[in-house]
Amino acid sequence: MTPESAATELVELLRQAREYARYFGELGAETIDAALQTPTKSLVANTSAKSIEPIRFKPVTDLETRTTTPPASLPPQIARAVPTSLRDALPQDSLFAVAEATGAAPQPTEALEEIWADIGDCTRCGLCAGRTQVVNTHGNPTARLMFVGEAPGADEDAQGKPFVGRAGQLLTKMIEAMGMKREDVIIGNVNRCRPPSNRQPTLEEAAICRPFLFREIAVVRPQVIVVMGNTALRNLLEIREGITRVRGKFQDFQGIKVMPTFHPAYLLRDPSKKRETWEDLKRVMDYLDNHSSNR
Ligand code: URA
Repeated sequence: MTPESAATELVELLRQAREYARYFGELGAETIDAALQTPTKSLVANTSAKSIEPIRFKPVTDLETRTTTPPASLPPQIARAVPTSLRDALPQDSLFAVAEATGAAPQPTEALEEIWADIGDCTRCGLCAGRTQVVNTHGNPTARLMFVGEAPGADEDAQGKPFVGRAGQLLTKMIEAMGMKREDVIIGNVNRCRPPSNRQPTLEEAAICRPFLFREIAVVRPQVIVVMGNTALRNLLEIREGITRVRGKFQDFQGIKVMPTFHPAYLLRDPSKKRETWEDLKRVMDYLDNHSSNR
């Protein structure tokens, strides 16, 4: 390779890397320094270039900006360095985009167990440092009804199941009041690792983890998803308004009815909100009663 052709190749690689940096930055990843190391090292040896600035992703600051379509194919040296969570989000996102354009339901190509195996002992974001274990979605894989919360708390982190603490006990009562059992429904969270001091997950942490929830939803295809609280609301729906304004009004996620309502932890702090929550759940019951099972 001549120095000229090496330099041309380097420029092209950097152009591609910037394009991917912008796209994956929008998905919430932080850096692709590693992606640039392979071409940088081999090409620097062949040219007089001294150093190349690593390209940093711009983390997502506003979910409304997540509109970019993925570039057609990933250069292998970049693909190797991109976290599996983001790589795997691409086919699913594309699947959803096609489904939206054609009006067809996305066809799942995997089982829940495969998604959980892919998550494994996840280290894709910083929350892994403080968790005891990953808390995956749990419940009936053919459920008509799914509940989505924010992230595990201390009890969930200890037991490895979502919603098993005080908020979870209240959620169980709400499900039973709807005439169902916990075993009938499926329950998950936007994030699967307990955030330190139970803080809200950052936009970036949520963006890294939620593709797994989207994949699970594509597999289960519940008829209704109840999103509990702002984190679940804003990560499933492109909505900037808060839960207080949106609750009680059916929304759509990939052709699935979504009912936003208050988070049970909030109801523990303000029990007066239980009445409105019950109104929201009654709307869900009405919908399910009037729409027979699609299985
Ligand atoms: N709060 C959540 O949002 N999720 C849980 O699993 C427990 C508490």
